[in-house]
Amino acid sequence: MRIIATPDYDQMSKKAAGILAAQVILKRSSVLGLATGSTPLGIYRCLIEWHRAGMLDFSQVHSVNLDEYCGLAPDHDQSYAYYMRENLFRHINIDPAHTHIPNGLAEDAEKEGRLYDALIRSLGGADIQLLGIGHTGHIGFNEPADDFPALTHRVALNPKTIEANSRFFASENEVPRYAVTMGIGSIMSAKKILLVASGKDKADILYRSFFGPITPQVPASVLQLHPDVTVVADEAALSVIREKEPEALN
Ligand code: F6R
Repeated sequence: MRIIATPDYDQMSKKAAGILAAQVILKRSSVLGLATGSTPLGIYRCLIEWHRAGMLDFSQVHSVNLDEYCGLAPDHDQSYAYYMRENLFRHINIDPAHTHIPNGLAEDAEKEGRLYDALIRSLGGADIQLLGIGHTGHIGFNEPADDFPALTHRVALNPKTIEANSRFFASENEVPRYAVTMGIGSIMSAKKILLVASGKDKADILYRSFFGPITPQVPASVLQLHPDVTVVADEAALSVIREKEPEALN
């Protein structure tokens, strides 16, 4: 694992976007595993800017998103399909038919999970998977549990996650209680992982994920077993690692 420390959110975004851009430049037909949430927004803004400047061509790129809320249609303004369209896809030249997000409206969530994993496999797996991290240590919506769920599945959201995500809804009651998420196995099958984090509220969970025991109670800790992980985080998010494991940061 390598950790890239940046002074602030803006630099975090530029550095992480640079890594994704390099992937697309080196392999035009890359499969990008993408994430939603607040943290990647700056990354997506950079990718849009560099595409407009003629630096990035997404015409051959495929994307697979991590997760989607259950019960929200793709045109609901809090669905992750809407988020991806508004914050990235409609501003770049990616073919909409190449963009994939789990179907939150699927009646048979198990079948949807199987289909989604088969789709990821048929694309050859993600070349790079972008991840944020939740306060619970969740990646995708894999919340603390007794085991690491392997495949794409339906999951009940942790109360902490519902509270954190309520900032995007009119009230906490409106936050969906379930989501469909790539499983830990689906995420770990990506060739490279790029995890981004910003802000002091992520400092403790970032330390526990990468320097604590590997346990499904801290889902992101499984990333310690992945052979190619890059963490790009700002100093606030790295504050606990800087205090307890300073030699990990250079
Ligand atoms: C988003 C996702 C989540 C977020 C996490 C952090 O697709 O899967 O795991 O990455 O909740 O969210 P932010 O970036 O809003 O702090």
